[in-house]
Amino acid sequence: SQRPLVDTFGRHVTYLRVSVTDRCDFRCTYCMGEDMVFLPKSEVLSFEEIQEVIGAFVARGVRKVRLTGGEPLVRRDIMKLIETLSATHLASGAIDELTLTTNGSQLSRHAQRLAELGIRRINVSLDTLDREKFTAITRRGRLEQVLEGIAAARAAGLAIKLNMVAMKNVNEDEIIPMLEWAHGEGYELTLIEEMPLGEVAGDRVDTHLSLRSVRDRIAERYTLTRIAKRTGGPARYVTVEETGGTIGFITPLSHNFCESCNRVRLTCTGQLYMCLGQEDRVDLRRALREGGREGLDAALERAMILKPKGHDFVIERRSAPAVGRHMSVTGG
Ligand code: GTP
Ligand code: 5AD
Ligand code: SF4
Repeated sequence: SQRPLVDTFGRHVTYLRVSVTDRCDFRCTYCMGEDMVFLPKSEVLSFEEIQEVIGAFVARGVRKVRLTGGEPLVRRDIMKLIETLSATHLASGAIDELTLTTNGSQLSRHAQRLAELGIRRINVSLDTLDREKFTAITRRGRLEQVLEGIAAARAAGLAIKLNMVAMKNVNEDEIIPMLEWAHGEGYELTLIEEMPLGEVAGDRVDTHLSLRSVRDRIAERYTLTRIAKRTGGPARYVTVEETGGTIGFITPLSHNFCESCNRVRLTCTGQLYMCLGQEDRVDLRRALREGGREGLDAALERAMILKPKGHDFVIERRSAPAVGRHMSVTGG
């Protein structure tokens, strides 16, 4: 009905990522400090506002919505939001996919209901299978809890993709074991290079691991075949002949995938970022409060003009992070 969202480089925006809360029950070292202070609730969009914004995007051609955080499943009554979104956009076929990126801590409780609501697959962060290391990385997480959550999701029929942030001297040695375990369990694995975000970005150079070398190392043991990317996202995928599984590589620092970017991100405070690695944004909360649906639509037009050609990430010792905001606010 309405015109699609196309930016100045001809890219269609069909994928909206929505951070529903900056709160999280973990404190992953690459994401936040130990003493992270969360936003006051009054700054966070209400469910009604989130629904309004998502509705405006869906009317303009967005086909996929991913809820992120922080940890999306720690927001109070989150299942009510998912129920509404499912009934409004998924049941009607207005979108193809409603999905979630989660740390897995609350999955045991919610997996079954998520499946009933039409969620077909989820991405779960899992950087290590070693209990102590897991607690060292997440500071507050318990590995067993997450593994139980993942198992519950599988039992409920959800497809699972594991996100592993690959860090030198931290979990580098676990990449191949993780691959073997994940594929053995029937999960996809995506390896992610650490990105310089938030105030914890100062010494990333020490843990930065190039996924190019990781891929070469995996290729010494396994037969990898490049496959076309299926989600229009930043990941490059290969299949592993011996396991029958797939691995994705997200390499924001060593490789630029921006030319096919199809996504924008809504923060939990209603700011729309056109790129994860860039500061330009549009205040959709204000647009909505001041101008209602029309105001929102006008703001989306402005946003398309602002979507940059690519991000500004660089890894450099002692440099300030490219982007000061937290992944937990932007939602990855
Ligand atoms: P699919 O829908 O399965 O393609 O997943 P996805 O990669 O879009 O979602 P997910 O939340 O699992 O993303 C994994 C991580 O990849 C994110 O949290 C970010 O760390 C990174 N990532 C996702 N999109 C982008 C992007 O546009 N740019 C950059 N630099 N990194 C991204
Ligand atoms: N660099 C790369 N990945 C990150 N994530 C969080 N912070 C960073 C960062 N600085 C990942 C999490 C999760 C996803 C949502 O984002 O591990 O898989
Ligand atoms: Fe929480 Fe995810 Fe950040 Fe870890 S990376 S602290 S799980 S938001």
